[in-house]
Amino acid sequence: MRKKQLIAGNWKMNGGLAANQILIDALLQGMGSPACDVALCVPAPYFSQVQALLSGTSTALGAQDVSAQLQGAFTGEQSVSMLCDFGVRYAIVGHSERRQLHGETDELVAAKASAVLGKGITPIVCVGETLAQREAGHTEAVVKHQLAAVIHANGHCISEIVVAYEPVWAIGTGVTASPDQAQAVHAMLRAQLRHAASEHANDIRIIYGGSMNAANAGELLAQADIDGGLIGGASLKAPDFLKIIAAAC
Ligand code: 13P
Repeated sequence: MRKKQLIAGNWKMNGGLAANQILIDALLQGMGSPACDVALCVPAPYFSQVQALLSGTSTALGAQDVSAQLQGAFTGEQSVSMLCDFGVRYAIVGHSERRQLHGETDELVAAKASAVLGKGITPIVCVGETLAQREAGHTEAVVKHQLAAVIHANGHCISEIVVAYEPVWAIGTGVTASPDQAQAVHAMLRAQLRHAASEHANDIRIIYGGSMNAANAGELLAQADIDGGLIGGASLKAPDFLKIIAAAC
């Protein structure tokens, strides 16, 4: 039996004290009791504010990144225990913006997943190919290689992860993978997970990210192997994010 769908907002480097309050008030008012799981992955300086705003609700607080190191001389980084201090339940690891702009390798992403799993936080492990890689026919090899590193490092608790398929060419571009394109990659990832964790593969959520919006969410979320969404731009607009949540539920 598949888990509930997960709709996670990735605010990226957006927000402000006043704007966060307005957005979250509108979300909580409009959401009622959703049948799917909902998370907000917010910039670290707002953990405290958002934790307070979400307290007593079913919406979870998420982080956008985490250090693989536990503590020490790592200027600018946040450790897993710092995330725990604020009740963070999900941490995105390996977002393509981190891989591309900060040179994060598959091995580092796997180490970050291990670090959060060790403290009971669910990693949302992002994988995805660039346009050039898709056009060269390398999509399957690229996403499988990215996921393999995480499976290799975390085989014993692989059922605790969430995988996010985010084709790089669809992120922030307004170009979405078609439901068939997304489903095909999700099915490949599911098969890889089945190989690694046969009895748990159907329980592992594989969510889609990349220009998901209120208009296209329903069709994407209806695909057999799409178990939710990781939403960038549309998560900053309460009416749009609420429509996506409704489509998942
Ligand atoms: P957009 O929804 O803005 O394309 O961003 C997707 C994303 O990168 C979520 O992590």
